[in-house]
Amino acid sequence: MEIPVIDLSRYLAIADTSSIDPDKPSGQIEEELGVLCREVSRILSETGALVVKDPRCTAEDNDRFIDMMEKYFEKPADFKLLQERPHLHYQVGVTPEGVEVPRSFVDEEMQEKLKAMPEEFRPSTPKGPDPKWRYMWRVGPRPSNTRFKELNSEPVIPEGFPEWKDTMDSWGCKMIAAIQAVAEMAAIGFGLSKDAFTSLMKQGPHLLAPTGSDLRRYGQEGTVFAGYHYDLNFLTIHGRSRFPGLNIWLRNGQKVEVKVPLGCLLIQTGKQIEWLTAGGCIAGMHEVVVTKRTIDAIRLASEQNRSLWRVSSTLFSHIASDAVLKPLGHFAESPLAKKYPPIPAGEFVEQELSVINLKGNKEESL
Ligand SMILES: [Fe+2]
Repeated sequence: MEIPVIDLSRYLAIADTSSIDPDKPSGQIEEELGVLCREVSRILSETGALVVKDPRCTAEDNDRFIDMMEKYFEKPADFKLLQERPHLHYQVGVTPEGVEVPRSFVDEEMQEKLKAMPEEFRPSTPKGPDPKWRYMWRVGPRPSNTRFKELNSEPVIPEGFPEWKDTMDSWGCKMIAAIQAVAEMAAIGFGLSKDAFTSLMKQGPHLLAPTGSDLRRYGQEGTVFAGYHYDLNFLTIHGRSRFPGLNIWLRNGQKVEVKVPLGCLLIQTGKQIEWLTAGGCIAGMHEVVVTKRTIDAIRLASEQNRSLWRVSSTLFSHIASDAVLKPLGHFAESPLAKKYPPIPAGEFVEQELSVINLKGNKEESL
């Protein structure tokens, strides 16, 4: 099964035309906008994932970012550990392999659910913590006054990478812009106001958090880079990885290997959008595993003398920590709404992390 590609160009053109208010469009445009946006909300609801093409996020932008991250992850461990900040709970800088723990490894309730799944759709079983590195880089402004202040730590920039800040900020901002467009479209598609989600994302603790997995060491078929889990944030976005391996689970329980075409971005639903829609969207389950297609890509990369580090350019977008998560608009009338009581987004994330005991790491694995 292929997830259809949604081209954001038309929506952006409509939204950018100042004479047209997407909240109150008329005639043909209203109809066109409705069709476009309902397609986005339907796919997010059924699959927990969306592949988009955003003219502002080009394949060249993604390449520039991945090239830099490959160069970084290829450095010796000694060098990378200079950017490690365990006393800051890895909220900035590098997280070495073996630190992030997949939920399916520690959550007994989830383990029981996995045993009950049909074998063909059952996720791979991780043997321990994820064998992948990660780099945390904050993107966008933070509130000056908040109950959930992140640790006051300077961003970490590795020596010998003069392009680091510009590359991280520019790719991070572009991916946030793509998320904002999708969040507006999803809101319209779900029958909410255009800014129902984006107004809650302002000053959210968005994080660009690329991962690096060493396929030279861990390139055997079946190796689990990120055990089966869902993300705690609102929506997660990635540029296309040079090595496939991401599996997602649709709402109907079916397991799908994701193929992201060149120049496209992949978006996945996190727990916060599930809360805001009272389960209209559910947090998408996913894993990253070395598959036959990954092995083919490794072989090709070796022949072409390219890097064998699998970089995923993950960005976690969040609802602002002080904003209250609760079912929005008509979702508040859903019979499922009581499963999603109001809770500040920051408190929700803290509670969820206490379940998975991540040794202080800010994000769940991806
Ligand atoms: Fe994830």
